[in-house]
Amino acid sequence: MKITYYGHACFLLETMDNKILFDPFISPNVLAKEIDVDAIEADYILLSHGHEDHVADAESIARRTGATIVAAFEITTWYGQKGIEALWPMNLGGQKQFSFGLVKFVNAVHSSVLPDGTYGGNPGGFVIENEEGCIYFAGDTALSKDMELIRERFQLDWAILPIGDNFTMGVDDAIQACNLIGCDRVLGMHYDTFPYIEIDKDAAEMSFKKAKKELVLLEIGAERQLN
Ligand code: NI
Ligand code: MN
Repeated sequence: MKITYYGHACFLLETMDNKILFDPFISPNVLAKEIDVDAIEADYILLSHGHEDHVADAESIARRTGATIVAAFEITTWYGQKGIEALWPMNLGGQKQFSFGLVKFVNAVHSSVLPDGTYGGNPGGFVIENEEGCIYFAGDTALSKDMELIRERFQLDWAILPIGDNFTMGVDDAIQACNLIGCDRVLGMHYDTFPYIEIDKDAAEMSFKKAKKELVLLEIGAERQLN
């Protein structure tokens, strides 16, 4: 699988046959102004929760591409009321086989409200498993012992974890999360976008290295093969 970083918590995952976009927040992100949001293709848009910094561009991309929005029931209902038809509601603990692989919607410890104040249900993360690999996109979350359940069920190749602290896990908690989920290869997200979550990237990489784990911080717009 190939992954492209579009800043903050937004990634495009490309499998053999499908393009899966996570948490699009591009047009309001000053760090991502080089990215042309109208050029992004997607077959699916996976939303971890309803906060603006995760859903800002989902509606426009869904309308233009016809991509199916996969998210908590309350969030897909909200998009349905806007007239979007390609929707797949999920809730915590549920899994579903899509054309690109298995998706399990796992616990996240956070909050979730949509930009207009509508209740967004529970926040979550996604485990994606197919013959090309297995990855965990944690969404916004605190460190949680529930992450051990992921290790018991899946053999992760990569984890996409928030490291910006303040609203989510920071670096130290992300390192601890690696032990819980049984995965030492991390793509960092949810850092530097706002003053609240600015981090020292060199120090973050050093902390991971000291713990004998790998932290990859992609440049916005950069892609990488996940093997
Ligand atoms: Ni959030
Ligand atoms: Mn967030």
